Amino acid sequence: MIRPILAHPDPRLREPSLPVQTFDDALRKLVDDMFDTMHHAEGIGLAAVQIGVHLRVAVMEVEDNPQRVMINPSFEPLGETMDMVEGCLSVPGVQDRTKTRIDHLRVQALDLDGKPYTFEAHGLEAACVQHECDHMDGKLYIDCLSHVRRQRVLQRYNRIRREEGGRQSD
Ligand code: NI
Repeated sequence: MIRPILAHPDPRLREPSLPVQTFDDALRKLVDDMFDTMHHAEGIGLAAVQIGVHLRVAVMEVEDNPQRVMINPSFEPLGETMDMVEGCLSVPGVQDRTKTRIDHLRVQALDLDGKPYTFEAHGLEAACVQHECDHMDGKLYIDCLSHVRRQRVLQRYNRIRREEGGRQSD
C-alpha cells in the first residue's frame, strides 16, 4: 500500500525514531508499504519516519545492489569523505551536493526476523545509508549543506512549493 510521504518542514520529520523491538506481521506490512511507497515515488531509499512511523527502519534499492531492509542500523566508516548530489523524497523537487558523506562503510542491521547481518556499502549506496540513518535521528540532508547552499536550496524548494500550492488552488 502506498502511503503519503511527509514533506519538509513537517515537524514529524524532526522527531527521532525508536529502535524496533517486535518482529511481527505489522513490521512486515510496514516494510511492504515502504517499498511500495518508495517505488511509486521512484526513490532509492526511504525511512519509516518519512511515512510518519517513528521506528528505526529503512528500505533501499540503489543501482545494482540488492534490495535492503535495514532495521536498527548502524555503521562503521571505512573510507574518506566524498562529494555527492543528494535529494530526498521529503524535500521533493530539489537536489544539492553534500561534502560530508563517507564513501565506504560497514553496515550492521537486523533483518525482518530480528537477525543481525552486515554488508559493505560504497559510493551512492554508502551515502544512502548515511542519509537514511540521519532520517532516524530527525536530520535531513539539507542540514549537511553549507549555510549558503542550504539557503539557496530552500529558496528553490519554497518557490516550487508556492507554485504547486497556487496550481492546486486554481
Ligand atoms: Ni530522504
